[in-house]
Amino acid sequence: MRTQSTHDGPAFRRAVRELVAAFRPGGDDLLPALHKVHHEYGYIPRAAAEEVARQVGLPAARVWGAITFYSEFRTEPPADVTVGWCSGPACRLKGGDRVRRIFEVELGIGMGGKTVDNRAGLHMAQCNGQCELAPMVWLNGRERGNLSMADAVRIARELKAGKTGE
Ligand code: FES
Repeated sequence: MRTQSTHDGPAFRRAVRELVAAFRPGGDDLLPALHKVHHEYGYIPRAAAEEVARQVGLPAARVWGAITFYSEFRTEPPADVTVGWCSGPACRLKGGDRVRRIFEVELGIGMGGKTVDNRAGLHMAQCNGQCELAPMVWLNGRERGNLSMADAVRIARELKAGKTGE
């Protein structure tokens, strides 16, 4: 994922235009173009939506409507570290609900939220079949399993301090 400090200036718009240059006017290319931008930046800023609209020949309002309709598209930058809490049955049987509560309390956010300094976010994730690691979370997609409650507290405090939880 590309990281840039500004996502609205001329250089950013130029980069988005290059990114979606292969897509053609007409509604069929809208979602693939949006997925490409989302994958690249981790979210879809308004300026990028306008560039996609220009490329696929649709009104910007219609493109923005599609972005906000589909829950998989973010319209704000993701947190530095996103904690994916496994909501699957094996993890919950092995203390997953307490793990969730620890992250919520230590980070001061609810499920789906992120800290005001953007260091950490928390979202609900699904079992991916690694149940032998229960209870577990993913930190930016990397699994952290067999968590004790002390592990959860330590990881949450590290994230709050700006560490990546490695
Ligand atoms: S229930 Fe959490 S990984 Fe399967």
